[in-house]
Amino acid sequence: MRGIVKKLSQPAVVADPGAGVGAFTVAALKWWPKAEVHAVDVNLVTLGLLAVRPDLAGRSPGKSRTRLRVRHENFLEWLTTKWPDLNGPRLLMGNPPYTRHQQMSATEKAAAQAAVGSLAPGLRSGLSTYFLAASLAALKPSDALCLLLPANWLEADYARPVRQNLWSVVKRPTELHLFPNDLNVFPGAQVAAMVLYVGPERNRRQRMKVVRVSGDLESGFRSTTVNEIERIGRTPASFSPRKLLAVPQPLRLGAIADTPLGVLATVRRGVATGANSFFLRTRSEADDLPPSACVPAISKLRDLEGDYLDDFEHSQLSMRGIRCWLLNLDADSIKDPKIKNLINEGEKLLIHKRHLCDVRDPWYTVESISVPDILVGPMGKEHFRIVVNTVGAIPTNTLYGLRINRRSEPLLAGAIESLAGWLRNEEGQQAMRAAARNHHGDGLVKLEPGALKQVRVPAHIVASLPD
Ligand SMILES: C[S@@+](CC[C@H](N)C(=O)[O-])C[C@H]1O[C@@H](n2cnc3c(N)ncnc32)[C@H](O)[C@@H]1O
Repeated sequence: MRGIVKKLSQPAVVADPGAGVGAFTVAALKWWPKAEVHAVDVNLVTLGLLAVRPDLAGRSPGKSRTRLRVRHENFLEWLTTKWPDLNGPRLLMGNPPYTRHQQMSATEKAAAQAAVGSLAPGLRSGLSTYFLAASLAALKPSDALCLLLPANWLEADYARPVRQNLWSVVKRPTELHLFPNDLNVFPGAQVAAMVLYVGPERNRRQRMKVVRVSGDLESGFRSTTVNEIERIGRTPASFSPRKLLAVPQPLRLGAIADTPLGVLATVRRGVATGANSFFLRTRSEADDLPPSACVPAISKLRDLEGDYLDDFEHSQLSMRGIRCWLLNLDADSIKDPKIKNLINEGEKLLIHKRHLCDVRDPWYTVESISVPDILVGPMGKEHFRIVVNTVGAIPTNTLYGLRINRRSEPLLAGAIESLAGWLRNEEGQQAMRAAARNHHGDGLVKLEPGALKQVRVPAHIVASLPD
């Protein structure tokens, strides 16, 4: 949290919604030595414990305590009655209660709805989303908030008004920090956690940042910005990273024109092994070899159900006994006795005499290619399959791979999503159909790599790719 709010200048007032024993209250007193800090909670016992915390005394006894305001009140009421009288700039910082909607009485829900006003979430919303909605509604331009929340509101239908509000406040820096799913931040609640930061309004448009937090409570956390999104167009149906990454981004200044795909990305066929039955191994065959002998591979997109080839989908292929591990050997590999046996077996089967193998030296070293970001199934009736390759699989030559040329890290995942999204949608499919040729009168059309390179990508997609 400190890292997120440290860019704020000194707030005059900080309020800790549902302050409990005051982890955030104490931090605020320490981080902003001039701020008045309001700890608001309905629980008198925890407030009592907070008021007598020894760490409030610190090196300058009394100083922190004189700035501390302990408020025994319902935060939602306090926010509508007392907060408006406090002078800014103000900050709301804390972790609201994660009480589920089933644990809230009808009266509590009605009171919460009334307190939140126009941003009121749906009735299936838990208390934390009411706290969030009310807090957003109560922000004046110079105010900010930083809340640790269960992540459900990012996708749930009931939180749509909250997401619409965040999509519309384009002059406020807005950050979504997403914790790993398996990290148990809210004990007993089994929900993923996130931190939402909404900063004071600035003069110009600000992007929405999506930050992935990795690590754990023991060894500490590390943050990686995965995308920065211009909030334009309609509010995305959800704020899941995938949906946010797919938001088409506007043209950069200096008008970018439609561009052939071959200029933006390297387009090429997958690896021609010369003998897939030998070079592609099943998981159990790969497990009999040293770990570096095989890399993830894919030879048929019809083996996949969805639009993503990630670790999970690839392990599903492995479990189904599909040959999805490519032998990745070099001249030195033969020093390993297991590999030597395998090569001998191949030679007994005369694999080394097959056309492509025969011209390679050594015959068991297949061509090495860069991992494509996007896999394309080049043959179809009306539709070409487009799959995002997050597992880093090497395709065989029945498939084509696209690898974006400019690889600026924080923007790359968004660029891949944006390009794959366009290729998958009707406009992209039409452009590919127009470039394809009929295949042997069997009703199928086939794209050649050269034709795929000529497909023109519209300017707004080009603008979403790294400079
Ligand atoms: C997740 S805990 C916060 C823990 C706190 N950050 C700490 O350091 O102890 C949520 C707190 O919200 C309080 N709470 C629940 N409903 C409330 C309401 N309507 N108004 C204010 N506080 C509430 C609970 O009493 C609880 O202390």
